[in-house]
Amino acid sequence: MGTSSSNDGLRSRNWFARDDLDGFLHRSWLKAQGFTDRAFEGRPVIGICNSYSELVNCNAHLRDLAEAVRRGVLQAGGFPLEFPVMSLGESLMKPTTMLYRNLMAMDVEESIRAYPLDGVVLLCGCDKTVPASLMGAASANVPAILVTGGPMLNGHWRNQTLGSCTDCWRFHEELRAGRIDRAEWRDIENSISRSSGHCQTMGTASTMACVTEALGMTLAGAAAVPASDSRRKGVAESAGRKIVELIAAGVRPSDVLTRSAFENAITVLHAISGSTNGVLHLCALAGRVDVDLPLDLFDELSEKTPWLVNLKPAGQYLMEDFYYAGGLPAVMNELSSRLHLDALTVTNKTVGVNIAGAEIVNTDVIAPADRPLSERGSLVVLHGNLCPDGAVLKRSAADPKLLQHQGRAVVFDDIGDLAARVDDPDLAIDDGSVMVLKNAGPVGAPGMPEWGHLPIPAKLLRAGVTDLVRISDARMSGTSYGAVVLHIAPESAVGGPLALVRDGDLIRLDVDARTLDLMVDEAELDSRRRSWTPPAKKDERGYRRLYADRVLQADEGCDFDFLRGRSPVVEDATTYH
Ligand code: FES
Repeated sequence: MGTSSSNDGLRSRNWFARDDLDGFLHRSWLKAQGFTDRAFEGRPVIGICNSYSELVNCNAHLRDLAEAVRRGVLQAGGFPLEFPVMSLGESLMKPTTMLYRNLMAMDVEESIRAYPLDGVVLLCGCDKTVPASLMGAASANVPAILVTGGPMLNGHWRNQTLGSCTDCWRFHEELRAGRIDRAEWRDIENSISRSSGHCQTMGTASTMACVTEALGMTLAGAAAVPASDSRRKGVAESAGRKIVELIAAGVRPSDVLTRSAFENAITVLHAISGSTNGVLHLCALAGRVDVDLPLDLFDELSEKTPWLVNLKPAGQYLMEDFYYAGGLPAVMNELSSRLHLDALTVTNKTVGVNIAGAEIVNTDVIAPADRPLSERGSLVVLHGNLCPDGAVLKRSAADPKLLQHQGRAVVFDDIGDLAARVDDPDLAIDDGSVMVLKNAGPVGAPGMPEWGHLPIPAKLLRAGVTDLVRISDARMSGTSYGAVVLHIAPESAVGGPLALVRDGDLIRLDVDARTLDLMVDEAELDSRRRSWTPPAKKDERGYRRLYADRVLQADEGCDFDFLRGRSPVVEDATTYH
């Protein structure tokens, strides 16, 4: 595509092709950067929406990728303009990036809406920057391609391969149990993050990269390319060319993000044994494009989908190995009978065309569909009187003997209570107990932090206990593992049944029956409900107040109620004056 009259319908022409004062102002101020008319006249304007930040290690290399996107845009006859958006870094941001996912999504959406952009390439990488970019682009609905920053190289320590942060949790438990010393712990800290990129396990960032590819919102084969592999820049350059083609073809996110695309994404989520956070983000994204995505659909597809990808935390390998083994196209080709192959993607081709001929190179890393790691997917959805609107558990990450379990509750009222008492030698807990954490949900925490992987009390670790049933309205890092029930809805802070649990209550988990129940009679629960009072609001002003007032519960993806759906993008530049 060049500067031909085929570009007459471009949205950006309402800014730059005007023969009036507005046109003068738009062009003249752009020329302050040294652009001549030739640079943008008649060309599609491509926004490079960059969540680069030195505060977000996973996204710190995205400026390099932006240059590769720029090359591709110029090759295809577009006019690239890079702009920053808020960035969300898992390791440094407190109390949790999830609190700010919706804020970043608003930043992405409104930046696209307000500026003269004909299309965007979204650069992101860390856990929440990917769904936030998708959600914002979906609501703005101008042509968009997402490019993730790619995973880090494998970590190495004393002949062991390390993945963040599965091996952080594992070795921290070794440290607490006294099986490694402080010097070794420090050495592991220096060995686990060897390159730029996001966490290299099948944690949330890798999961969302794969889910994005399955949705059709990034280029085929893009999810697993390591951040420091030269081919990652090749993906970015290709996306720069492709976005110009998508504009000409008129392909928008609403053409890609169909019900079929979401079913493909859920199937892939199960086959890769992806993060539980993927459920939340897919529910939120579906709400942006009016696709009905009940939690039970995740469970239904889990029963029909084999687990194929052998990556930590549920399996053995890391994203670098996954790339060399064939990556997501090989997985999707194995699953082809279960996918909607006619779904359109941002390659401007269907899923079926994208994955045709993709082969597994290493069957230890990607199991063939006729010899899966498990006949069923890893995530299950629970219901019961403790979670009337649902809860989520990753069965592949749990000790199988705990998947049918009945035990007495050991209740922690909030994260402070947990931190104060979990390692108390007098805590009344044993290997049959059920640990319960309250007030860790979207409103209660706020922001639903990754507190659901409650630490096993040190005295039980020293006794050799490696897993316990733990339940909460929190999330869990995608890199964590254990018999951990998450996302209980409604949450305790808004009066969900979790708020009524007391020490010593009997709790029954039956994963086969998909139930989680509090074995307390209804009359007693009624009496507790009547005496329950909501916890005091933690924030009285600002964004956090807005969050607590308008956030939806986990079964709806924790989006804001007023952000669901799309708004038309204004086409007339004079509207802004
Ligand atoms: Fe960014 Fe793990 S800290 S993906």
